[in-house]
Amino acid sequence: MRILGISAFYHDSAAALVEDGEIIAAAQEERFSRKKHDARFPHNAVDYCLRQAGTSLGQLDQVAFYDKPFLKFERLVETYLALAPRGFQSFRMAMPLWVREKLFQKDLLRKELKGFEERKLLFTEHHLSHAASAFYPSPYNEALVLTMDGVGEWTTTSAAIGRGNKLEMIKEIHFPHSLGLLYSGFTYYTGFKVNSGEYKLMGLAPYGTPKYTQKILDHLVDLKPDGSFRLSQDYFDYCTGLTMTNAEFDQLFGSPARKPGELLTQFHMDIAASIQDVLERIVLRLTSALVKETGIRNLCLAGGVALNCVANGKVQRSGVCDGLWIQPAAGDAGGALGAALAAYYGFHDQPRKSVCKDSMKGSYLGPEFAQEEIEHRLNAVGAKFRTVDDNCLVRLCAEALEQQKALGWFQGRMEFGPRALGARSILGDARSPQMQSVLNLKVKFRESFRPFAPSVLREDVAEYFELDSDSPYMLIVADVVERRRKAMTAEEQSLFGIDKLNVPRSDIPAVTHVDYSARIQTVHKETNPRYHALISEFKRRTGCPVIVNTSFNVRGEPIVGTPEDAFRCFMGTGIETLAVGNCFLRKEDQDESLKLDYSSGFELD
Ligand SMILES: [Fe+2]
Repeated sequence: MRILGISAFYHDSAAALVEDGEIIAAAQEERFSRKKHDARFPHNAVDYCLRQAGTSLGQLDQVAFYDKPFLKFERLVETYLALAPRGFQSFRMAMPLWVREKLFQKDLLRKELKGFEERKLLFTEHHLSHAASAFYPSPYNEALVLTMDGVGEWTTTSAAIGRGNKLEMIKEIHFPHSLGLLYSGFTYYTGFKVNSGEYKLMGLAPYGTPKYTQKILDHLVDLKPDGSFRLSQDYFDYCTGLTMTNAEFDQLFGSPARKPGELLTQFHMDIAASIQDVLERIVLRLTSALVKETGIRNLCLAGGVALNCVANGKVQRSGVCDGLWIQPAAGDAGGALGAALAAYYGFHDQPRKSVCKDSMKGSYLGPEFAQEEIEHRLNAVGAKFRTVDDNCLVRLCAEALEQQKALGWFQGRMEFGPRALGARSILGDARSPQMQSVLNLKVKFRESFRPFAPSVLREDVAEYFELDSDSPYMLIVADVVERRRKAMTAEEQSLFGIDKLNVPRSDIPAVTHVDYSARIQTVHKETNPRYHALISEFKRRTGCPVIVNTSFNVRGEPIVGTPEDAFRCFMGTGIETLAVGNCFLRKEDQDESLKLDYSSGFELD
C-alpha cells in the first residue's frame, strides 16, 4: 500500500511517501523551488517522492492532505463574527486569499492532482497529522503525544495517546489560545519575523533575565494547574488586526514593538528570557499533568513549538517522562508525513510492527545523487575537482577542518525538516575561538547572537555535554560539562550582546552559548556512516569528537538541494573547501570568473 502525504498552502509545503508503513521519501518544496518556506503546491516534492518509490500518481492507493480546509474557513468566519466590527479589516484582507486558495483548497488540490481518482483523496485534521508524525515514527509502542503550534483548524494544542496503530485524541485547546501564537506575538514585539524569527528570540533569551515572567502570567496568560491556558485577547491583535500585538501590549511592557533592524537592547533580551521562561513553564506543566493523569511515561512531540529545543531540553532533564521523541520536521512540513501515516494506520487500520527504534532513518529522506551524476553536474557548471576514494575524502575533509577551513559537506540523502544534520551542512572546527564569527560573517552573511550547533559522536556526547542520550535531530539543548567550561572575567562579564558571545566559554567555543548551553546533534554510525567517519577522523587527529554543523545556505536561502546549488553557494561565499559525494573541491583551484555576488539574491529573514 502506497500513500502520498501532502502539506501545502500555509507555509512550508512538503510531500512524503509511505509504503506498507515504511517511510520511503519526504522533502520540502523550498529545496527544489529555491523559495524559502515555499507554500505553493509541492509539485517538485511530489515528483521526487513518486520517483523515489518508483511509482506514479495513478498507482497510489491514497493521497492524504494534512489539513481540513473547511474547518479553517469556519474558524475565520466565527472569529470575525465574535469580534466584529474590530475584525473587518483583517477579514477583508484575508478573504480574497481564502476564497482563492483556502475555501477552494479541495478544488485546487483536485486540479493539481489531475487524473487522480477523487475517492482516494483523504483529508486528515491538522493536529492529527502532527500527532501522527510524532507517534508512528517514534520508538514507542505506547506514548503520550503532545502537539503544540500556532493554529491548525481550531486546535492549537492537542494531547493524544498512541498505542500500537491507534492514536486517540484526549484533549484539545482551541484558537485563539495558542502557545505558538503567544511566542510569535513576542517574536513580533521584539522585531523578528513571525514564523521564522522564533529561533532568534530563543537564541536571545540567554542574554536576558526573566524579569517579566510574572507580568506575562498576571496579564497575558492564565495558566491552570493542569497546564491548560487561556490568552487574554486584550493584548493581542492576531485575531483581528494585521499585527500580532497591540497598543495595550506596548503599554504593559512600557515600550513600543521593536522595528526590524532597530538596536537590540537589554530590554529585548529580558523580554526574550521572560517569554522563554513562560513557555517552558507551560510545556513542563502540560507534560507533567498528562503523565500524572495517564501514567504513560513516554512522550512524543510535534508542532512548531516542539522546535524550541531549549524547552525540550528542560523537559528531558526534568525527569517528568522516561522517553522523549520529537519529530524532526515538527512544523507544517512534517504534517505531510503525518497525514500519510495517519491514513495508513488510522484510516486503513494497518498493523504497526513492534518497534524498538525510530523509523525516520535519521531524517535522511530526501534526494541523493549518484557519483557519476555529481561529476556530470559539477563539470557542467565548470567546477574543478578531484575524485577520491572514501578514505581519502574523509582524510582531506578532516585535514581542512583541522586547518580551520570552512567545509561544505554535501553527502547522501537530504534531510527532511528545518535542520541540516550532516547531509547538506557547512562544517567547521568547534575548538576555534574565531570560527563562530568567521562562519557568520564570511559564509552566512549575518551576525548571530546564537552560536552554531555541535555535531558530536554519539559515543562521546557525555564527555562534552550534560547529556547521555540520543539527540540525532538537533532538537535538544544541554550544557557543556563543567570541566570544559571557561569562566568569564568581570570585564568580559560586562560585555554586551555579540561581544559577549565572542568570549570563549569552553574548550569548544564555536558551539557554546553565553549560558554554556549547546544545541546538540548526536551522530550515529548506523544512520550516517560517512559523517560519523569524518568526525572520527577529526577526533583521531585532534582528540576532539565535536565539530560545528550549520546548514548549507546563506541567510534567507533554502538549504542547498543539488550539487549545482552547493557549488554556487561555495563560489559565492567564504567556504574554502567542498565535498560533494566523492568529489573534493578547493576554492583556490576554481576559475575566478565563476565567483558570484551571492547573498544579495535572497530576501533577508
Ligand atoms: Fe501546524
